[in-house]
Formats: sequence, structure tokens, C-alpha cells
Amino acid sequence: MAIKILNMNSELGAGTRGASLGTAAVKIASLNKRSDYFKKHPMKVLPDLNDELVNDTNTPYAKNIEHIAKIYETTADAVKETIDGGQFPVVLSGDHSTAGASIAGLKMAHPDKRVGVVWVDAHGDLHSPYSSPSGNVHGMPLATALGHDNEERKINDIDEETKKYWEQLKNVGGICPKFNPEDLVFFGVRDTEEPEDFIMKKHNIPNYRVEEVRYRGLDACVDEAIEKLSDCDIIYVTFDVDSMDCDLISKGTGTPVSKGFDDKEVTHIMKKFIETGKVGCFEMVEVNPTLDEKQNKMAETAFDVLEELTPAIENNI
Ligand code: ARG
Ligand code: MN
Ligand code: MN
Ligand code: MN
Repeated sequence: MAIKILNMNSELGAGTRGASLGTAAVKIASLNKRSDYFKKHPMKVLPDLNDELVNDTNTPYAKNIEHIAKIYETTADAVKETIDGGQFPVVLSGDHSTAGASIAGLKMAHPDKRVGVVWVDAHGDLHSPYSSPSGNVHGMPLATALGHDNEERKINDIDEETKKYWEQLKNVGGICPKFNPEDLVFFGVRDTEEPEDFIMKKHNIPNYRVEEVRYRGLDACVDEAIEKLSDCDIIYVTFDVDSMDCDLISKGTGTPVSKGFDDKEVTHIMKKFIETGKVGCFEMVEVNPTLDEKQNKMAETAFDVLEELTPAIENNI
């Protein structure tokens, strides 16, 4: 299927500004590699609202949530329209908060289908404003899609304003939840907080850790995960670049974590899911070139991964 790139330069969900430049950095990486990738594939640039704010901390348990609620609507609608138009949405976003919106858009396009989610990330992103240690909404997209409030682990006493917008995030498209925790698999998660560990344990959500994947082999782990999602009709794959090892690749991302995957490993994992033919949306997030100690290395690596995955999408879906 032909892809359409949806470029959402969000950065309001991250604790450090600069992720909105991530997609521009990926484009520069492509130009420097003399690739015609961004000429070949149609792209829609979505309005990002970054200028509207300096740093809105009126809602400390979910910073900038009012603006992020608008970004959610825009992103979810764009994903749905792209699918309705017969194209495959590749969401190139800044911070990871938009993933909750992309899952919403996928579900809005396929309301009767059972959605599965593959989350390639160093983080669980299962917080809500009730449990978040930082108030950064990029740590919450899965909770918006799963529709939970970390009920058993409420730590923060959140204000009415935050509550109102949090309900909006969970209910984008008028469907809540978008999918169920039994249809979620993690790859590479290695930096979580207790409220996230609680959810992972409660629902027995598999997390294929880097060591396990290396010990058992990529194919054994991915095949098992594909089997786990075999009852799902359609799958969303998200690639947070901090799933990769920040010491090996670069620190050009908001929340870098050591001991992650290399670029070949993440490519192999995601390609195998795409080859099932069931993937309905792919997203790549969290490149922040302002933090890159190796010039544009994170964006270059992210571009290589995207370029490798694209023919698999075009040929399999
Ligand atoms: N768990 C931490 C928090 O909630 C980090 C989240 C990082 N998420 C991300 N998409 N990079 O603040
Ligand atoms: Mn992450
Ligand atoms: Mn941490
Ligand atoms: Mn993430």
C-alpha cells in the first residue's frame, strides 16, 4: 500500500523542548544521504501549536494538556482520513504523546476491528496524570488508549482542569478504550516506575527485554509476540528511538537510556510485524537533535530504520 507521511511536530509532551525539530532533522539526514525519500512519498504537515506556549505548567500533573488535547484531535483525524483515503499512515512525530492519538485514529477508521499494539521503547508510557512522576504527557499515551487512570496507584491529587482534558484524551473519537491490555506487547522497556510495573504485572503484558531478545534470538521472540497478537485484526507499531542504546547510537532524544537495542535489531523486530500484513499504522518519535552529542546521529539512524521499513510496508500491506 502507498504510504502517506503525517508530520506532526509535537514537543509539548516532553520534559525537554526540541523534539519538534526531530522530523526536520530526519529530513536533513535523508538529504545528506542523497536519498529522495521525502520527494517520493507524499507528506502532510499537521499544525503543531508549539508557538502557542512557552511552558504551560498550570496543570503540573499533565503539563500543556490543553494544547495536547488539540494535537490529539488533529493527529487522530489525520490518521483516520489517511486510512479512509486508502493510504498507509506513517506518523513522524516529535514527542511520543501523539501515539495515543494515532491509536485513536486507527480505531476510528476501523471501529469494529480488534486493535493490537507493538510498543518499541525504553519506557512503558503507561502513566496517567494520577501516577506520573514528571507530569510529562509523553509518558502517558498508552493510558489514554487503554483508558485507565492507574486506579490502584493514584499518587497525585490532580486538579479539575487536568481531569477535564484527561477525559478528552481518553475519549478522542468517542471510543474508550481503543484496545485492551492483553493486546499489547513491549520491546526494550527498561526504565519504568512502580505504577507502570503494577499495570504490566496485573495484565501480564509481555516485555521482550534487550537481553532476552539477544539470548533467545530475535525471531523466537518476535514470533511469540506475533502469536500473542494473533486474535487482533489490525496492529499499530510505534518506534520510540530511545528504545535504542543511547551509548551506542546517540543521546539525541529527550529521555535517553543505556543498554538498548541497536538499529539493526529494532529494524528486524518491526519489519517482521509489518510482514504479517496486519500493521495499519506506523509511528516514529522522540528524535531531539538539540540534545545530540554526535551532531545528527540519532536522526540519521532513525532515517535508516524508516527507509528500511518502507518497502516492507509498501509490499506487504
Ligand atoms: N516514565 C517517565 C515519565 O513519565 C519517562 C517517560 C518517557 N517517555 C517517552 N516517550 N520518552 O516521566
Ligand atoms: Mn521512551
Ligand atoms: Mn526513570
Ligand atoms: Mn515512549
